[in-house]
Amino acid sequence: MKIAVIGAGYVGLVTGSCFADLGNDVVCIDNDTEKIKKLNSGVIPIYEPGLDNLVSINTLEGRLTFTDNIEQGISNSEVIFIAVGTPPKDDGSADLSAIENVAKHIGASLNSYKLIVEKSTVPVRTGEWLRGTIEKYNRNKVEFDVASNPEFLREGSAIQDFINPDRVVIGVNNEKAAQVLLKLYEPLNAPILVTDINSAEIIKHASNAFLSMKISFINAIANVCDLAGADVKKVAKGMGLDNRIGEGFLNAGIGFGGFCFPKDLDALIAISNKLGYDFNLLKEVRNINDKQKLTPIVKLKKLWPSLKDKEIAILGLAFKPNTDDMRLAPAIDIINVLLSEGSKVKAYDPVALENAKKIFRNGAITFSETPYDACLNADALIIVTEWNQFKYLDLLKVKNSMKDNILIDGRNIYDPHKVNKLGFRYFGVGR
Ligand code: UDX
Repeated sequence: MKIAVIGAGYVGLVTGSCFADLGNDVVCIDNDTEKIKKLNSGVIPIYEPGLDNLVSINTLEGRLTFTDNIEQGISNSEVIFIAVGTPPKDDGSADLSAIENVAKHIGASLNSYKLIVEKSTVPVRTGEWLRGTIEKYNRNKVEFDVASNPEFLREGSAIQDFINPDRVVIGVNNEKAAQVLLKLYEPLNAPILVTDINSAEIIKHASNAFLSMKISFINAIANVCDLAGADVKKVAKGMGLDNRIGEGFLNAGIGFGGFCFPKDLDALIAISNKLGYDFNLLKEVRNINDKQKLTPIVKLKKLWPSLKDKEIAILGLAFKPNTDDMRLAPAIDIINVLLSEGSKVKAYDPVALENAKKIFRNGAITFSETPYDACLNADALIIVTEWNQFKYLDLLKVKNSMKDNILIDGRNIYDPHKVNKLGFRYFGVGR
């Protein structure tokens, strides 16, 4: 099929490259001319394992192209995926202005039947609004359909998630649109659920909110474990063995970040409120997460009344491993509080340093080239992101290079007994 993907961000690039790899003709469109120039010269603007390979193979074989010419991209395509950003507004609701702008271009460029598919995460009823907006600019009254096909891919394993999804959700309001998307996804052999557009839109928000709720729930249990002297890892294992609960997303830690969970939670709260339902449960999920991010500071303050001039090593800056994404990363909140308390921060991350440098400018913190450099002379070490390489550090070397021996394991990656034996004072989350 001839496909246009509008928006060459995480979602758009992965979706476009994967559809090209399945044998479709894909054009990725973005109004960021610099980004398109980079992509055309083989530079991938984001870090996503496997994406560079996928882009270069499919570009070489002529199935994947990049352009900033939206009209041309649209008129040559049969299916158009909208994958532009829907960032939060001040009140938490989703800002749909990028989608609106795209919708105008689509309406004005329609030259034959096209299926317009929402890939971006949007509030329920956006499909209806999108149809109306495109229609307004569709002067030649060309036939088109709108569909919702939410993406569930995770950063860091986005390509695997695309190729091997738990399910594909297709929200449509007629059989013709359903058939186009069913054919497109046929090669994946994945379970496909066809629904109406409103339900598909809610499936995406509800899934992310539910997963956020699982994380906040286990973090709340972790706080109880801390007080009771229990081990949250064992508690999560025991809960997860119940099929009705499931093992996934029960890793206690210092909270969730990234651009999806926090933003989608707020957007669902906002749209529910607009529709007349006060979603207090989700407000509490958010409150628990906000507090959880700062638990390393609470632990340090119990040890030292003042954090002034303490040297703190931070290992891991990205919001999770295998990504360079710093958006709403717990590391930002933790470092900002440490700085406001007068601490000195040295930080290391395997791939997010460049993005972190854009946030902490003018020498606000020291960026280290290795995890060992970050820990040198530190009073305390905080594990913020559970990169695999931190699991295999020479912890004795780390301990011997530190001034004091505090280890705050924000992701429960170490065995408390082993690290205490090395001479650390270990503080995990809920154990
Ligand atoms: C998420 C959804 O998983 C994905 O389906 C959706 O399309 C986009 O949002 P992503 O944000 O890439 O994906 O990351 P994910 O792996 O889901 O983790 C989100 C956050 O939750 C991370 O900060 C992670 O550290 C945290 N997390 C996850 C926990 O704290 N505990 C867990 O058990 C799982």
